[in-house]
Amino acid sequence: MTNEKDATFLAQIGNHKDPYTGAISAPIHLSTTYAHPSLGQSTGFDYTRTKNPTRSILEEALAKLEAGSLAVATSSGMAAIQLVLGLFPQGAHILAGRDLYGGSYRYFNFLEEQGSASFAYFDSQEEFEHLLAAVPEVTAVFLETPTNPLMHLFDIKQIAAQTHARGGQLIVDNTFLTPLRQKPLTLGADFVVHSGTKFLSGHNDLLAGVAVAKSPEDGERLAWLANTTGGTLAPFDSWLFIRSLKTLALRLDRQEENARSLAEKLTAFPQVTEVLYPGSGGMISLRVTDPDKIPAFLEKLQLFTFAESLGGVESLVTYPTTQTHGDIPVAVREAYGLTPDLLRLSIGIEEGADLLADLQQALEIFPKAAQR
Ligand SMILES: Cc1ncc(COP(=O)(O)O)c(C=O)c1O
Repeated sequence: MTNEKDATFLAQIGNHKDPYTGAISAPIHLSTTYAHPSLGQSTGFDYTRTKNPTRSILEEALAKLEAGSLAVATSSGMAAIQLVLGLFPQGAHILAGRDLYGGSYRYFNFLEEQGSASFAYFDSQEEFEHLLAAVPEVTAVFLETPTNPLMHLFDIKQIAAQTHARGGQLIVDNTFLTPLRQKPLTLGADFVVHSGTKFLSGHNDLLAGVAVAKSPEDGERLAWLANTTGGTLAPFDSWLFIRSLKTLALRLDRQEENARSLAEKLTAFPQVTEVLYPGSGGMISLRVTDPDKIPAFLEKLQLFTFAESLGGVESLVTYPTTQTHGDIPVAVREAYGLTPDLLRLSIGIEEGADLLADLQQALEIFPKAAQR
């Protein structure tokens, strides 16, 4: 369950922000430019790429929720990742959890091919420690926890301490759990990134990202680079993000309640060989008995929609092998457990019994395992 302070804070975002009208829903400031009272003076707003009143309300709220010094709202989750990695120098040595969103992996690969940075991947705490000891230099560590789609959990506190001991900084992609379930900056991480497209906005109608810095110095660098490179979020999208955040606690509590119950029930299905649920949040992965029957399973589903993405109020099913993780070479992904029998479910806010009934009727397509 969401703690009451976060729930209250979320519901009130943007209220009391317009002294002229008392508007409870924050105004959308579309103006790209702002009058200067006189030479050398500013209202605090000059040009929307740099700072926009609607986006500022959103960014201040996100910084507070993640316990950071400053947040930048970006045009997508990938833009947020690019922004944070952009802070590191040419030739940066980055260690990354291997099981991560395929788009992040694709970007890291591109950086490596370009010669901008080098990446080494780890699957477990032991492998991380092994790598730390083996590499001559560590600029940064990039982590998803739980990982996507295998739901491994890493100990942020321990990894942050070990990263800092080698002079590096820790970046955590907090898309899956949101700050309502995990605040990586309070555990020692230096940066948090999000695909705001997922749980934070939650309605499958907004593409957005968030980058948050812990220290004021890093916050200043982040804001400088965001202004310089220009991937900041538009005013209307910032307003839509604020509007969506107000119900995040309600949505996530319900998604989690549904997911927890489904994860438990799915383990009893003879067509399901493994259920991967990290214990909180709204994401479940599962393995089925016969990958060849997956196309028929996807067609049989009536409530779950076969689509890429996650975190919205509508339940979705994703096939990582061809969708979100299709750009990872087959040998690489299969070696770490992303095999063709794996499906990923994003649980929505529908009635839990309806979701279970839909899965139950569609799972019938798979043969039953002889023994569990
Ligand atoms: C964990 C994670 N991080 C980052 C991203 C990228 O976000 P966006 O699609 O908003 O660019 C995604 C997208 O699926 C994701 O799942």
